[in-house]
Amino acid sequence: MVLASILNSDLLNLAKVADTVRESGADALHYDVMDGRFVDNISFGLPVLSSLRPYTKQPIDVHLMIAEPLRFIERFVKAGADLLSFHIESDSDPKETLRCIHACGIPAGIAVSPDTPVSAVYPYLSGMQKDDFILLMTVYPGLGGQKFMPEILPKIRALSAFLSKEQLPLHIEVDGGINAETGMQCRKAGADYLVAGSYVLGSPDPAAAVASLNTPIL
Ligand code: DX5
Ligand code: ZN
Repeated sequence: MVLASILNSDLLNLAKVADTVRESGADALHYDVMDGRFVDNISFGLPVLSSLRPYTKQPIDVHLMIAEPLRFIERFVKAGADLLSFHIESDSDPKETLRCIHACGIPAGIAVSPDTPVSAVYPYLSGMQKDDFILLMTVYPGLGGQKFMPEILPKIRALSAFLSKEQLPLHIEVDGGINAETGMQCRKAGADYLVAGSYVLGSPDPAAAVASLNTPIL
Protein backbone atom coordinates (compact mmCIF):
# COMPACT_ATOMS: atom_id res chain seq x y z
CA MET A 1 0.00 0.00 0.00
CA VAL A 2 1.22 3.51 -0.86
CA LEU A 3 0.50 6.48 1.38
CA ALA A 4 1.21 9.94 -0.04
CA SER A 5 2.68 12.41 2.44
CA ILE A 6 1.45 15.96 1.86
CA LEU A 7 4.09 17.62 4.08
CA ASN A 8 6.12 19.01 1.17
CA SER A 9 3.15 19.64 -1.12
CA ASP A 10 1.56 22.90 -2.27
CA LEU A 11 -0.22 23.66 1.01
CA LEU A 12 -1.84 26.79 -0.37
CA ASN A 13 -3.91 24.46 -2.55
CA LEU A 14 -4.66 21.56 -0.26
CA ALA A 15 -7.85 20.57 -2.09
CA LYS A 16 -5.86 20.24 -5.29
CA VAL A 17 -3.25 18.21 -3.44
CA ALA A 18 -5.98 15.85 -2.16
CA ASP A 19 -7.25 15.49 -5.76
CA THR A 20 -3.74 14.68 -6.95
CA VAL A 21 -3.30 12.09 -4.21
CA ARG A 22 -6.56 10.39 -5.21
CA GLU A 23 -5.84 10.55 -8.95
CA SER A 24 -2.31 9.22 -8.41
CA GLY A 25 -3.72 5.90 -7.23
CA ALA A 26 -2.17 6.24 -3.76
CA ASP A 27 -4.17 4.22 -1.23
CA ALA A 28 -4.16 6.84 1.51
CA LEU A 29 -3.03 10.30 2.45
CA HIS A 30 -0.28 10.60 5.10
CA TYR A 31 -0.64 13.62 7.39
CA ASP A 32 2.43 14.65 9.42
CA VAL A 33 1.78 16.52 12.66
CA MET A 34 4.72 18.29 14.38
CA ASP A 35 4.60 20.34 17.54
CA GLY A 36 8.00 22.04 17.69
CA ARG A 37 8.86 20.00 20.76
CA PHE A 38 9.18 16.40 19.66
CA VAL A 39 10.83 17.60 16.46
CA ASP A 40 12.29 20.98 15.59
CA ASN A 41 9.52 21.94 13.20
CA ILE A 42 5.82 22.81 13.26
CA SER A 43 3.57 21.56 10.48
CA PHE A 44 -0.23 21.48 10.68
CA GLY A 45 -2.69 20.12 13.22
CA LEU A 46 -6.35 19.68 14.09
CA PRO A 47 -8.11 22.54 12.22
CA VAL A 48 -6.41 21.74 8.92
CA LEU A 49 -7.30 18.05 9.31
CA SER A 50 -10.94 18.96 10.04
CA SER A 51 -11.03 21.05 6.86
CA LEU A 52 -9.43 18.35 4.74
CA ARG A 53 -11.56 15.48 6.10
CA PRO A 54 -14.89 16.18 4.36
CA TYR A 55 -13.12 16.94 1.09
CA THR A 56 -11.60 13.50 0.52
CA LYS A 57 -12.93 9.96 0.84
CA GLN A 58 -9.43 8.53 1.07
CA PRO A 59 -8.16 7.15 4.37
CA ILE A 60 -6.04 9.67 6.28
CA ASP A 61 -3.01 8.24 8.09
CA VAL A 62 -2.03 10.69 10.83
CA HIS A 63 1.61 10.52 11.99
CA LEU A 64 1.99 12.33 15.30
CA MET A 65 5.49 13.70 15.84
CA ILE A 66 4.45 15.39 19.06
CA ALA A 67 5.70 15.19 22.63
CA GLU A 68 2.40 14.20 24.28
CA PRO A 69 0.35 12.19 21.79
CA LEU A 70 -1.99 10.69 24.38
CA ARG A 71 -3.46 14.14 25.13
CA PHE A 72 -4.54 14.54 21.51
CA ILE A 73 -5.65 11.08 20.34
CA GLU A 74 -9.40 11.60 20.71
CA ARG A 75 -9.23 15.01 19.07
CA PHE A 76 -7.32 13.70 16.05
CA VAL A 77 -9.77 10.82 15.65
CA LYS A 78 -12.71 13.26 15.83
CA ALA A 79 -10.99 15.50 13.31
CA GLY A 80 -10.82 12.60 10.86
CA ALA A 81 -7.84 10.29 11.35
CA ASP A 82 -8.42 6.76 9.97
CA LEU A 83 -5.05 5.44 11.15
CA LEU A 84 -3.02 7.04 13.90
CA SER A 85 0.63 6.60 14.83
CA PHE A 86 2.66 8.03 17.70
CA HIS A 87 6.34 7.80 18.58
CA ILE A 88 7.72 5.34 21.08
CA GLU A 89 10.20 8.12 22.03
CA SER A 90 7.38 10.50 23.02
CA ASP A 91 6.47 11.30 26.63
CA SER A 92 3.20 9.33 26.55
CA ASP A 93 2.92 5.79 27.87
CA PRO A 94 2.81 3.51 24.78
CA LYS A 95 0.41 0.99 26.34
CA GLU A 96 -2.10 3.65 27.33
CA THR A 97 -1.76 5.45 24.03
CA LEU A 98 -2.43 2.22 22.12
CA ARG A 99 -5.44 1.53 24.30
CA CYS A 100 -6.80 5.02 23.69
CA ILE A 101 -6.45 4.70 19.90
CA HIS A 102 -8.15 1.28 19.97
CA ALA A 103 -10.93 2.66 22.15
CA CYS A 104 -11.53 5.21 19.39
CA GLY A 105 -11.98 2.29 16.99
CA ILE A 106 -9.14 2.84 14.52
CA PRO A 107 -5.81 1.08 13.77
CA ALA A 108 -2.81 2.23 15.76
CA GLY A 109 0.84 2.52 14.80
CA ILE A 110 3.97 2.83 16.89
CA ALA A 111 6.61 4.94 15.17
CA VAL A 112 10.32 4.38 15.72
CA SER A 113 12.97 7.03 15.00
CA PRO A 114 16.27 6.01 13.34
CA ASP A 115 18.35 5.95 16.54
CA THR A 116 15.89 3.79 18.52
CA PRO A 117 16.42 0.03 18.32
CA VAL A 118 13.42 -1.76 16.87
CA SER A 119 13.36 -4.07 19.89
CA ALA A 120 11.98 -1.08 21.86
CA VAL A 121 8.53 -1.89 20.45
CA TYR A 122 8.62 -5.63 21.20
CA PRO A 123 7.10 -5.32 24.70
CA TYR A 124 4.05 -3.56 23.20
CA LEU A 125 3.33 -5.86 20.27
CA SER A 126 1.10 -8.19 22.25
CA GLY A 127 -1.19 -5.20 22.89
CA MET A 128 -1.55 -4.56 19.18
CA GLN A 129 -4.36 -5.74 16.93
CA LYS A 130 -4.98 -6.77 13.35
CA ASP A 131 -4.54 -3.73 11.04
CA ASP A 132 -2.10 -2.09 13.47
CA PHE A 133 1.37 -1.24 12.26
CA ILE A 134 4.91 -0.31 13.22
CA LEU A 135 6.23 2.78 11.45
CA LEU A 136 9.98 2.59 10.97
CA MET A 137 11.38 6.02 10.13
CA THR A 138 13.88 5.84 7.29
CA VAL A 139 14.96 9.48 7.89
CA TYR A 140 15.12 11.60 11.04
CA PRO A 141 11.59 12.91 11.64
CA GLY A 142 10.99 16.61 11.07
CA LEU A 143 11.34 17.35 7.37
CA GLY A 144 10.23 16.01 4.01
CA GLY A 145 12.65 15.55 1.13
CA GLN A 146 15.49 13.92 3.05
CA LYS A 147 17.71 11.10 1.88
CA PHE A 148 16.73 7.50 2.71
CA MET A 149 18.92 5.86 5.40
CA PRO A 150 19.89 2.37 4.14
CA GLU A 151 21.07 1.46 7.65
CA ILE A 152 17.38 1.10 8.59
CA LEU A 153 16.97 -1.92 6.27
CA PRO A 154 18.33 -4.38 8.89
CA LYS A 155 15.75 -3.02 11.35
CA ILE A 156 12.96 -3.78 8.87
CA ARG A 157 14.33 -7.30 8.36
CA ALA A 158 14.63 -7.89 12.11
CA LEU A 159 11.08 -6.69 12.78
CA SER A 160 9.67 -8.68 9.90
CA ALA A 161 11.39 -11.85 11.18
CA PHE A 162 10.18 -11.19 14.72
CA LEU A 163 6.57 -10.67 13.58
CA SER A 164 6.65 -13.92 11.59
CA LYS A 165 8.18 -15.83 14.48
CA GLU A 166 5.56 -14.53 16.90
CA GLN A 167 2.79 -14.92 14.29
CA LEU A 168 1.74 -11.30 14.71
CA PRO A 169 -0.19 -10.06 11.68
CA LEU A 170 1.01 -6.45 11.93
CA HIS A 171 2.05 -4.18 9.09
CA ILE A 172 5.40 -2.49 8.67
CA GLU A 173 5.27 1.10 7.44
CA VAL A 174 8.36 2.97 6.24
CA ASP A 175 8.56 6.74 5.99
CA GLY A 176 11.21 9.04 4.59
CA GLY A 177 13.16 9.19 1.34
CA ILE A 178 11.03 6.52 -0.31
CA ASN A 179 11.24 6.25 -4.11
CA ALA A 180 11.04 3.34 -6.58
CA GLU A 181 14.47 2.04 -5.61
CA THR A 182 14.37 2.52 -1.82
CA GLY A 183 10.71 1.44 -1.75
CA MET A 184 11.66 -1.87 -3.38
CA GLN A 185 14.51 -2.35 -0.88
CA CYS A 186 12.06 -1.80 1.98
CA ARG A 187 9.46 -4.15 0.52
CA LYS A 188 12.10 -6.85 0.04
CA ALA A 189 13.07 -6.34 3.68
CA GLY A 190 9.44 -6.84 4.77
CA ALA A 191 7.68 -3.44 4.69
CA ASP A 192 4.18 -3.34 3.19
CA TYR A 193 3.11 0.29 3.81
CA LEU A 194 5.23 2.82 1.90
CA VAL A 195 4.92 6.50 2.75
CA ALA A 196 6.20 8.69 -0.06
CA GLY A 197 6.04 12.47 -0.09
CA SER A 198 8.32 14.35 -2.47
CA TYR A 199 8.69 11.36 -4.76
CA VAL A 200 4.94 11.30 -5.49
CA LEU A 201 3.78 14.89 -5.07
CA GLY A 202 6.96 16.44 -6.45
CA SER A 203 6.72 14.30 -9.57
CA PRO A 204 5.41 15.62 -12.91
CA ASP A 205 3.54 12.30 -13.12
CA PRO A 206 2.32 11.28 -9.64
CA ALA A 207 0.41 8.27 -11.02
CA ALA A 208 3.60 6.88 -12.58
CA ALA A 209 5.44 7.47 -9.30
CA VAL A 210 2.79 5.52 -7.35
CA ALA A 211 2.79 2.76 -9.97
CA SER A 212 6.56 2.48 -9.63
CA LEU A 213 6.11 1.86 -5.88
CA ASN A 214 3.62 -0.90 -6.60
CA THR A 215 5.66 -2.97 -9.07
CA PRO A 216 5.83 -6.68 -8.28
CA ILE A 217 8.64 -7.73 -5.97
CA LEU A 218 11.23 -9.67 -7.97
C1 DX5 B 1 9.19 13.22 7.98
C2 DX5 B 1 7.77 12.82 7.69
C3 DX5 B 1 7.58 12.13 6.38
C4 DX5 B 1 7.92 12.97 5.18
C5 DX5 B 1 8.17 12.08 4.01
O1 DX5 B 1 9.27 13.71 9.28
O2 DX5 B 1 7.30 11.94 8.69
O3 DX5 B 1 6.25 11.63 6.27
O4 DX5 B 1 6.94 13.88 4.86
O5 DX5 B 1 8.55 12.86 2.94
P1 DX5 B 1 9.58 12.35 1.83
O6 DX5 B 1 8.95 11.19 1.15
O7 DX5 B 1 9.76 13.54 0.98
O8 DX5 B 1 10.85 11.94 2.55
ZN1 ZN C 1 5.38 10.84 8.31
